Amino acid sequence: MAKAKKVWSGRFGVGTDTQVEAYTASIPFDWRLYPYDVQGSIAYARALMKAGVLTGVEAGRIIRGLEEIKKELDERRLDPDPAHEDIHVYIEGRLTEKIGEVGGKLHTGRSRNEQVALDLRLYLRAETDEIVREIRALQEALVEQAGAHLDVIIPGYTHLQRAQPILWAHQLLAYVEMLRRDAARFRDSLQRVTVMPLGSGALAGTAYAIDRVALAEELGFPEVSRNSIDAVSDRDFALEFLAAASITMMHLSRLCEEVILWASAEFAFVDIPEAFATGSSLMPQKKNPDVAELARGKAGRVFGDLISLLTAMKGLPLSYNRDLQEDKERVFDAVDTLRGTLQVLAPLVRGLRVNADRMRQATEEGFLNATDAADYLVSKALPFRRAHEVVGKIVRYCIEHKKRLEELSVHELRRYSRLFDKDFHDFITIEASLKRRGVVGGTAPEQVRKAILAARADLKKEAGKK
Ligand code: ARG
Repeated sequence: MAKAKKVWSGRFGVGTDTQVEAYTASIPFDWRLYPYDVQGSIAYARALMKAGVLTGVEAGRIIRGLEEIKKELDERRLDPDPAHEDIHVYIEGRLTEKIGEVGGKLHTGRSRNEQVALDLRLYLRAETDEIVREIRALQEALVEQAGAHLDVIIPGYTHLQRAQPILWAHQLLAYVEMLRRDAARFRDSLQRVTVMPLGSGALAGTAYAIDRVALAEELGFPEVSRNSIDAVSDRDFALEFLAAASITMMHLSRLCEEVILWASAEFAFVDIPEAFATGSSLMPQKKNPDVAELARGKAGRVFGDLISLLTAMKGLPLSYNRDLQEDKERVFDAVDTLRGTLQVLAPLVRGLRVNADRMRQATEEGFLNATDAADYLVSKALPFRRAHEVVGKIVRYCIEHKKRLEELSVHELRRYSRLFDKDFHDFITIEASLKRRGVVGGTAPEQVRKAILAARADLKKEAGKK
């Protein structure tokens, strides 16, 4: 496109310094808003026509011109010269170039301040839908892993110390729950994203008879903004998006941390599929979990995006200030990082190979059934606090004599409490331990099976909604 003079050049005697152009331009990154900018402008042209500002013929020419520009840009024929400032000026300039002076009527009563707010809202609505879908795909991968390995037992950990036996499926379903809350947060945030700002003008409201409700309806937004000053200066919806993205990345990072641990020789619980691992340039034997490490590392970027925008916002007087242009790279970075991470983790999780023997073996060392031994004494009417102390002493004895709890004879046990009997050994098997935890949300195989069915039903219902 030809180098257009500035849309605001009338008041200026000299041209803009090229350094200033480069410093202030947002077109190098906000070009990605073009489909939404076109969509918003088409709707606005119709509103101008209904308000009597544009004739039907004029509106028709503008709308056709905008549609052509959208096609041009779909084919990536964009010239991101900083002289164009931003995507809004670029599209308006290109429109006038294509259809002549009438293109200059599109911006009647409109400001880029409301335009950019609308574009970002339309963009975030579309991306949020994709993110919710991608979260679901990862949940499906986790549920699939869980369902395929219902009989696999691992040590559950607290403080990264072996604690109690659990089902591997139960651990995976914990991540399904985190992701369920994440998706809900994103879906809920749409209520604040889909508020239509056009008609706010630069800050005071437009002087033209724009039917804002009809405009909102056309754009599929259920609400119009209620205060023009707030409408051009609010970025809460972007902050909410970044907060939801940050929490999701935190969850993904925790999952990745576990994958990294599980894939280490020290744990050797899982094998990462080769196509999702990397090697070393020096050590020929290495197979590294770089994907999981990068996901863990990239969580920090998204937290940074959130803090960066919060910081940009905190000192702004009403209404629009150019600082707000800093929102876009933060939002785009978070979208790219989160979506890229979700997309790569789903097949990685699906491809994890489980070393069930190693997992089982790990549950047999470390007194994971000590709680069950205490529960045994409770079943014989000993107060729990006393039972805890008795078993603590027995564990100490076992450590000194290199024995497991299940290897102790009733005779040995009775030295600590008369309540021990022949039924003790059956009471403290891993299977019995799991089975007793049959509360809703517990790790008993029966409950976990139900949880998998419930998760599958949930995911199917969610998939049906969109
Ligand atoms: N590129 C600007 C942004 O992203 C668009 C709004 C510019 N408005 C203005 N009055 N300079 O915020």
